[in-house]
Amino acid sequence: MASENSGTPQGSGLWAWINARLPLDKMLKEHVTEYYAPKNFNLWYVFGALSLVVLVNQLVTGIFLTMSYKPSAAEAFASVEYIMRDVDWGWLIRYMHSTGASAFFIVVYLHMFRALMYGSYRAPRELLWIFGMLIYLALMAEAFMGYLLPWGNMSYWGAQVIVSLFGTIPVIGDSLAEWIKGDYYISDITLNRFFALHVIAIPLILLFLVVSHILALHEVGSNNPDGIEIKKHKDAKGIPLDGVKFHPYYTVKDTFALGVFLIVFCSILFFAPTFGGMFLEAPNFDQANPMQTPPHIAPVWYFTPFYAMLRAVPSFLGTQVWGVLVMFGAIALLFFMPWLDRSPVRSVRYKGPITKIALGIFAVSFVVLGYCGMKPPQGIFPLLARIFTGLYFAFFLLMPWYSRLDRTKPVPDRVTYDAH
Ligand code: HEM
Repeated sequence: MASENSGTPQGSGLWAWINARLPLDKMLKEHVTEYYAPKNFNLWYVFGALSLVVLVNQLVTGIFLTMSYKPSAAEAFASVEYIMRDVDWGWLIRYMHSTGASAFFIVVYLHMFRALMYGSYRAPRELLWIFGMLIYLALMAEAFMGYLLPWGNMSYWGAQVIVSLFGTIPVIGDSLAEWIKGDYYISDITLNRFFALHVIAIPLILLFLVVSHILALHEVGSNNPDGIEIKKHKDAKGIPLDGVKFHPYYTVKDTFALGVFLIVFCSILFFAPTFGGMFLEAPNFDQANPMQTPPHIAPVWYFTPFYAMLRAVPSFLGTQVWGVLVMFGAIALLFFMPWLDRSPVRSVRYKGPITKIALGIFAVSFVVLGYCGMKPPQGIFPLLARIFTGLYFAFFLLMPWYSRLDRTKPVPDRVTYDAH
């Protein structure tokens, strides 16, 4: 029997018993079966669900990796080789985790770009966007620390380069870099603390942020490709006229997307797990060697746009802190999107040519910078990196101006949707 005051389903049985004590049914209704999402979602809306899938993949494979990995400078590299060669299915678990890291950034970058296109960061979704950005920061910290764990030569020198960036901060820099390392150089102590942060602290933070992200989304409701609030038009029961139940209408679409994703993911996993050195870099198949720098130090592809910006800025007044400021500034600017965009309309569909071109330039800049960051800073690359760093910043800093001035198209009252 359901209790009198719970509002849970009538009847007997385990489900009713639980629901009289824990509002599982109510939560499922609120967040799944009776969450009304706009009926005009397109392909861009699958990447949130896919991010969740990849998150679970990382957590599960991570747990299994931890069972055989040894977080010490003396044993880490060999323990990863042991996982790859001797542990049953160890190679699969390890490649699922390393390919999963790249997959995470691919789906998250597409997920973020969708938000930029459709103005999903704008009121009333600012907090949802900020939670997204915090997830992005946590994800970068997670990936950076995870990369040190195999104790390969690129792990070592990559960490060395990134931690030394903190050393460029005036006055406190050196002590800060030492504090992060826990030593005077990247050592066993550094590896140990990165392990602790990578396997428990940051995943906990990530989970907390993802739950908050989805709760914030469900509080205000989803945006959509038209950038229209579906809550403006409701029927007599208070249900949005342009909304459909998340389940089954979007669970079925997300499941299809998952199928396509798995085909691509497994193709890479089984046929090109290092992806030509982009997902797992060649020097990382050599053990960390403090006496030998790899010929060309570059981070994994998902960090290279920011790395290119770091290198694009020359040292000035005897300090390299400017490049570091530009690099962190490039990420920080994204937080301010809700306040930089002053357009009267939300979605790019109804925005004018300047905004469309600006968004295009931003996307191209990110990709070109990513490419420059992978290449040694020679030939045309430093120049390209400077030009596209300028364009990247212009997209944000000029936005309050061009987003207000640009022409807009009339926004329809109801969402546009063709039932096929
Ligand atoms: C672990 C990473 C993440 C997970 C699991 C996640 C999950 C989700 C899910 C399930 C949705 C609803 C479905 C959808 O709209 O695609 C969503 C929406 C959204 N996410 Fe994320 N997200 C993640 C990272 C991010 C990041 C890094 C950002 C931006 C910085 C972001 C910004 C947004 C926005 C603005 C929406 C609302 C979109 C709309 O209604 O148009 N998310 N997220």
